[in-house]
Amino acid sequence: MNPYAHIRDLPAHAGETVELRGWLCGRRTSGKLIFALVRDGTGVCQCVVEAKTPDAFAVAERAPLESSVILRGVPRADERAPGGIEMHVADFTVIQGREGYPIARKEHGVDFLMNHRHLWLRSLRQTAILRVRHTLVAAARRFFDERGFTLVDTPIFQPGAAEGAGSLFPVEYFGERVYLAQTGQLYLEAAAMALGRVYCFGPTFRAEKSKTRRHLTEFWMVEPEIAFAELPDLMDLAEAFVCQLVEAALRERRDDLQRLGRDLAALERVAPPFPRITYTEAAELLRSDATHQRLVVELEADRARLTDSMRRLAELEARRHSETKAWRQDKLDDEIAALREELRELETDLANRPAHIESARRFQWGDDLGGDEETILTRQFDRPVIVTRYPRQCKAFYMKPAPDDPRVVLNLDVLAPEGYGEIIGGSQREDDLDALCARMKEEGMDPEPYEWYLDLRRYGSVPHGGFGLGIERTVAWICGLRHIRETIPFPRLIGRATP
Ligand code: 4AD
Ligand code: MG
Repeated sequence: MNPYAHIRDLPAHAGETVELRGWLCGRRTSGKLIFALVRDGTGVCQCVVEAKTPDAFAVAERAPLESSVILRGVPRADERAPGGIEMHVADFTVIQGREGYPIARKEHGVDFLMNHRHLWLRSLRQTAILRVRHTLVAAARRFFDERGFTLVDTPIFQPGAAEGAGSLFPVEYFGERVYLAQTGQLYLEAAAMALGRVYCFGPTFRAEKSKTRRHLTEFWMVEPEIAFAELPDLMDLAEAFVCQLVEAALRERRDDLQRLGRDLAALERVAPPFPRITYTEAAELLRSDATHQRLVVELEADRARLTDSMRRLAELEARRHSETKAWRQDKLDDEIAALREELRELETDLANRPAHIESARRFQWGDDLGGDEETILTRQFDRPVIVTRYPRQCKAFYMKPAPDDPRVVLNLDVLAPEGYGEIIGGSQREDDLDALCARMKEEGMDPEPYEWYLDLRRYGSVPHGGFGLGIERTVAWICGLRHIRETIPFPRLIGRATP
């Protein structure tokens, strides 16, 4: 018999003797009792050690925080304990540990936490985010697998750019220069001509000098590509895809989302049909008086929200001060840290907002929709919005111009609500050889590294298209995180490639 039980399964073992393996993540002593919090990746368990088992008591009293431990004891239902079950410990063994675990429960700055990302990952908040990420990745694969797509892994070393030469990472490749993949798309187009419906799911790299809360230099993208698909097909697929991701998170990770303080009602509103607007309509919406008035009202409301949150912080701090139960103290500490972070972000946001409101009013047809414009746009809708037909100068060379208006391309961006902005970008592709060559020439691109890509337009070209969804942007939105840095285990940002 395997004597070890996971914390998640403890309710089924109530009254039996079991062993737990994990890490000591908190401790409170009250006279003859020690309340040790142990986590094992499946949950956190409050473990009670009594002075009448002196050996266990002595070990539990001295074990440094974050020691690896093995406990033997009996789980019993107790509604006062977190998770509704408490372990009564007979034996307490430390496998390894030492004093001085760098991350204390007190608040740390973002830089400190990022430097200790390898340890920060152990926190309840970070493990909740990692599980949501896992669920979204699995749901994305399931979505395409169930629809008859074949997974095709595309190369990471690539000879040229697909998303603009400005964001390429060059790599020295046995005396030649190649680049890290910005997308798998061009290769996926080749695979779509072989298999019909394909997708890739891998790491992609952008050397953008953008230090924003939405940009990583290394991120994961899932990209479907479909032969004989046109823009309306892509919009329908993107809508169904986003809905399935949100449903999976709500179904499988409700507890984690709640732990993160996510407003679940906002996610439950994500259902078809998504509003579909053109870039031109989006530009008019941005400039309109109605939008302007609405933004001003929202700004006032957010200022009031700031005051409320500050009041709530003071309340929490007072409660923390008088709280005696260790696990409630821990919970309050987490809440306080999260609220402080939120307040800081809100303050910065409020400081920048008046300038954004002004720039929206001055938006000109032909300007690209940047993060600030997307934030403003998506605040007007209660679900994701699909924006199509951008000016061609804003978009990549491979996008097909609209037959009825060659100034715009047959593209789609899906913008997530609540100010999150673009999570999907895609398009119908230029499938005509001459038109594609002309566009590449216009962009000043050397056709040589793309000869193989042009072959796809020489031998059996068909209308086709696809899109890419950034996993980290999607995790940030679904978890309700302000900044993308927490959505990936080891983020790569400008100025950060460690640990
Ligand atoms: O809009 P993008 O650049 O589209 C493409 O790469 C296409 N080749 C995809 C395709 O049609 N097959 O990127 C797609 C998505 C964005 O909507 C965003 O979610 C994410 O990738 N993304 C980033 N995520 C984090 N950091 C960055 N720097 C990102 N750049 C794009
Ligand atoms: Mg894009």
